[in-house]
Amino acid sequence: MQKRIVILPGDGIGPEVTAAAERVLTEIGTAYGHEFEVKHAYLGGAAIDEYGTPLPQETIDACQQSDAVLLGAVGGPKWDSLPGDIRPEKGLLGLRKSLGLFANLRPVTIFDSLADASPLKDEVVQGVDLLIVRELTGGLYFGEPRERREVNGEETAVDTLIYSRSEIERIVRRGFELARERRGILTSVDKANVLESSRLWREVVEEVAGDYPEVTYSHMLVDNAAMQLIRNPKQFDVIVTENMFGDILSDEASMITGSLGMLPSASLSESGPGLFEPIHGSAPDIAGKGIANPLATLSSVVLMLAYTLEMPEEAKALQKAIDDVLKNGYRTADLTDQANVLSTDEMTEKVVEALKQTTATS
Ligand code: NAD
Ligand code: IPM
Ligand code: MN
Repeated sequence: MQKRIVILPGDGIGPEVTAAAERVLTEIGTAYGHEFEVKHAYLGGAAIDEYGTPLPQETIDACQQSDAVLLGAVGGPKWDSLPGDIRPEKGLLGLRKSLGLFANLRPVTIFDSLADASPLKDEVVQGVDLLIVRELTGGLYFGEPRERREVNGEETAVDTLIYSRSEIERIVRRGFELARERRGILTSVDKANVLESSRLWREVVEEVAGDYPEVTYSHMLVDNAAMQLIRNPKQFDVIVTENMFGDILSDEASMITGSLGMLPSASLSESGPGLFEPIHGSAPDIAGKGIANPLATLSSVVLMLAYTLEMPEEAKALQKAIDDVLKNGYRTADLTDQANVLSTDEMTEKVVEALKQTTATS
């Protein structure tokens, strides 16, 4: 098959982990006879440096014309003092909005061989398999007004948490649909004891639930959900929640797997290209050292192959290669205290070798 993939390396460790993904894509293309037409474009700090804006029109156009987009990460200290509108993160938010990527899927899957990497107890972690479905184009991230103003003679800042019924309904439906294909349990996370937007969210969940009788659903307040994720993460199958809660809960949930460097994500629209990215950021503290864990990004490639490129066999082979590498005890620095750790490139080569073995025997 021929597919157009746009890679947005971004900033910090972004280019290091997308290089890993490109290496693996080349290998998959060779093994399965696909032609991946890969194009690089600028986003975030890199785009500010090159174009003076975090989201150049060229990047939007390239992404819209692609079959799938792969992103590293954006942001870093170099751009932290810029005004809100030309920050790197604003570029990512703008891209999500312009591609209509309202559904952000963040699977939290445990690799048995990695159970010891989690700060949580083995019995808490083993067998966890949950999916966070995060609303991605609404809520506090996009609500207006968002400004500084003077109130009672004092400098004051305002952000706005706003959701329409239709914005809630489409993400909640996606949550129910995904739960139906999995273990059939949906937890809707909100703060309905305080927030009006959460009370509307709950009402919509109640209405939509009628269309999915095979799914068992419940509501949970977000503070409790944060605690339950650590106490007993196995109780969860699909969690559906609003933008900001999903952002925070997914970084928290990554530690069940052992590292933030493990969690991939897929951002999907009703139709059109999806965007695939690790959930972690540009990690300025380790950028340039060549030690970042590439597995969150490689797992994002798994999601890209499965969800958008319609290559289930290839997705399975890459998933197995990642699993094999971890079973063989290979670790990047974030996954172990031991001295014997692999660099980003070494880890990537291990995955490529494992992939070669899988494709040779299939
Ligand atoms: P971060 O996710 O970049 O890093 C948090 C911690 O996790 C750091 O100690 C980092 O070294 C570690 N870490 C992250 N990814 C890792 C990997 N692959 N391998 C090993 N260790 C890894 O979060 P932060 O430090 O709060 O944010 C840094 C910058 O990244 C900020 O500018 C933020 O806005 C941006 N950010 C971007 C995205 C994105 O582009 N999707 C996501 C989150 C944060
Ligand atoms: C993420 C990041 C982004 C978010 C930032 C960089 C805008 O933290 O993808 O999780 O908050 O959505
Ligand atoms: Mn985040």
